[in-house]
Amino acid sequence: MRKNIVAGNWKMNKTLQEGLALATELNKALAGSTPNCDVVIGTPAIHLASVAAAIDTTKIGVAAQNCANKESGAYTGEISAAMVKSTGANYVILGHSERREYYGETSAILNDKVALALANGLTPIYCCGEALEVRNANGQNAYVKNQLEETIFNLSADDFKKIVIAYEPIWAIGTGVTASTEQAQDMLAFIRTIIAEKYGKEIAENTSILYGGSCNAKNAGELFAQPDIDGGLIGGASLKVEDFKAIIDAF
Ligand code: G3P
Repeated sequence: MRKNIVAGNWKMNKTLQEGLALATELNKALAGSTPNCDVVIGTPAIHLASVAAAIDTTKIGVAAQNCANKESGAYTGEISAAMVKSTGANYVILGHSERREYYGETSAILNDKVALALANGLTPIYCCGEALEVRNANGQNAYVKNQLEETIFNLSADDFKKIVIAYEPIWAIGTGVTASTEQAQDMLAFIRTIIAEKYGKEIAENTSILYGGSCNAKNAGELFAQPDIDGGLIGGASLKVEDFKAIIDAF
């Protein structure tokens, strides 16, 4: 079901104590209010259980930033989808460009991760987005379409309905160079169009599609006012409660 969502992605930040303090402060800041969006925090794996236990998870969802592409077994260092679910997390960010780039996540690997996440009752926040050279060559639509066709477009209609998509142009991630409102709206409208071509208009209209990439308190309101932008996946601005809450309040 289509929802407004503001999801934070802490990336590799915050010690156990710092993360618990941040989550607890956000929980307190949102207590007594009813945001016009679903709020999710994507924490490093070490935080998942302690954060989920410390906050009102009916108001703030918890996301892992990854899960294994294997169900269980001799995969040292990996964390399975079932383990993520057991912490109280209900979301998992998958396909982030940093994991594709630094850890070689291919479409085949991501297909397995998405399947295991869904099988364990996790909502994937599935990332896509192009590099600057692709954008400069006006190849972003074909590139993103291929990313989706190689992965989540292989899902059944019933499974696809459970997916949240986040478009994050790589050239906007962590750079302070936010996509223009027009660029973001155009891409998200395009994504919604190709979803409709694959799964039909009803599913397309009911898919939550987020923008990520230097989204902040200054630009969130204009971005979220766009017809096809259902919220944001927020990196740097999710690390301080006042910055993250300002984005939540942009709805
Ligand atoms: O997953 C969200 C992230 O990639 C965006 O980072 O710091 O540009 O908001 P940032």
